[in-house]
Amino acid sequence: MKEKIREILNTIENFNADSIDELENFRIKYLSKKGIIPALFGEFKNVAPDIRKEMGMALNDLKNKTQEKLNLIKQEIDSKSTSGQQQDVDLSMPVDFMDLGSRHPLSIVRRQILDIFARIGFTISEGPEVEDDWHNFEALNFIEEHPARDMQDTFFIDDKDEKVVLRTHTSSVQVRVMQNQQPPIRTVSPGRVFRNEAISARAHCIFHQVEGLYVDHKVSFADLKQTLYYFAREFFGEKTKIRLRPSYFPFTEPSAEVDISCNICGGKGCNICKYTGWVEILGCGMVDPEVLENCNINSKEYTGYAFGMGIERITMLKYQVNDLRLFFENDLRFLKQFQSAL
Ligand code: DAH
Repeated sequence: MKEKIREILNTIENFNADSIDELENFRIKYLSKKGIIPALFGEFKNVAPDIRKEMGMALNDLKNKTQEKLNLIKQEIDSKSTSGQQQDVDLSMPVDFMDLGSRHPLSIVRRQILDIFARIGFTISEGPEVEDDWHNFEALNFIEEHPARDMQDTFFIDDKDEKVVLRTHTSSVQVRVMQNQQPPIRTVSPGRVFRNEAISARAHCIFHQVEGLYVDHKVSFADLKQTLYYFAREFFGEKTKIRLRPSYFPFTEPSAEVDISCNICGGKGCNICKYTGWVEILGCGMVDPEVLENCNINSKEYTGYAFGMGIERITMLKYQVNDLRLFFENDLRFLKQFQSAL
């Protein structure tokens, strides 16, 4: 038996393994229930009593050394596999080119709009998406129970007193600007707005607007018309015409909706303009003196105009997108078509 132990010890000391599988086979061979070492323990009862003590110690020693060796090799394999991961990188391999990203069409158009107004001196201002009732409605002449509140189905943040809302339009930003700044004010306010509406090809519960505001001495409706005409031609092309139709908004008086000559058929009539030759692009008007006063601007001294447009809507018109939901799906087959447009 002594000889056997010596032999096994020798094999174990010289053993090495490169993989966990190999190591496991080693463990099974020597240490598992039916392995070589437990078998030796089984033979122990036949050992002559005078050498029992010596053999017992040798057997225990063999078992411990085997276990130690097992642990040692396992540690080596583990540390090799972590550092090995780095060594496995083959720097001479050709790289996988990642697709170049592109701006979202709504971002492209947002930038185009802001650029056009920046050229005539409009600054950019922003406000919060979670807004209080006063900035979103009250200050803009939507008094409580005003039927015009129904024009914009609202998401309420606080169910109990309905005083905090997700803003339904960026007109709330004009209130904030006027509260914080005396005229002259000339600013455009881009942002995300929210309405409790069913999602369809033409409507979404989240969309984007750009609001415009100009307040100064003697700002007139003619200024408004000229500015919007400038915008329409810059954005849709210089042949574009505009027309203004009387409309109603609680915060402007008089109010109008602005159409452009259909940029698809040039005004001849097509299914985009429903054969009228005109498509609506925005709402506008002269800031109601009451709104100026609500924001601490003297309405005897100053007048102003305001306008608001939906970014989705004019993006759809410009790029002939027929379903608004496409803007929110992040389908690369759609988004990639805007790659070249800056
Ligand atoms: N806030 C209006 C809306 O969301 C759009 C609008 C209309 C803004 C007329 C204006 C304006 O500033 O003068 O439907």
